[in-house]
Amino acid sequence: MKLLEPGNCRVDVAAGRLDGASNRYEKLFSDLAGLYEDERAFRALLEEKGSSVAYEVTDFKPSANPGDMIIGVTRMEPGRVGREFYMTRGHIHARPNRPEMYYGERGRGVMLLESPAGEIRTVEITPRAMCYVPPYWIHRSVNVGDEPLVMTFAYPADSGQDYDIIAKVGGMRSRIVTDGKGGWMAVDNAAYRPRPQALVDSIMAMKD
Ligand code: NI
Repeated sequence: MKLLEPGNCRVDVAAGRLDGASNRYEKLFSDLAGLYEDERAFRALLEEKGSSVAYEVTDFKPSANPGDMIIGVTRMEPGRVGREFYMTRGHIHARPNRPEMYYGERGRGVMLLESPAGEIRTVEITPRAMCYVPPYWIHRSVNVGDEPLVMTFAYPADSGQDYDIIAKVGGMRSRIVTDGKGGWMAVDNAAYRPRPQALVDSIMAMKD
């Protein structure tokens, strides 16, 4: 077994980045078509800032070997499309039995989780709160605050990401929207169609 070298990456909370990261990717608002319920508001957003960054991820990925770990930082802009807060695309891990951890560094967020069968959970993430995403849960981050949401995360290096699981059924079952009083609430997504039981069963049976 070849040994890997230890890493020492500093979280730049103000910039929302990991210094010493080996990878970086960003999603522009123009990459997020089809995510939001209010298409008119989304088109207006694209005209205003379609080519600006909605969220970015910097991570340290020593390898993709089973048993290894990826650590990193995500930074999300604050704002809304209509009543709906800015969010990430969301995914389930391609190896769905892999978990994840998110840790709040700055801002106010909600982790929206959905089981393959459509059960919903929400976890608030504020500075120094640690969110455990269990295996088999679809997950998406939502910035419900008025400043950038910065979180660190860690997950098994061979997890992979499957985004289609959300797109195929019209989005996640719930949407995170303003409650009109400075807070947030989860409401039903009218476009959501439950997954067939056979698909739910096949996802829940997946191991490695
Ligand atoms: Ni994940």
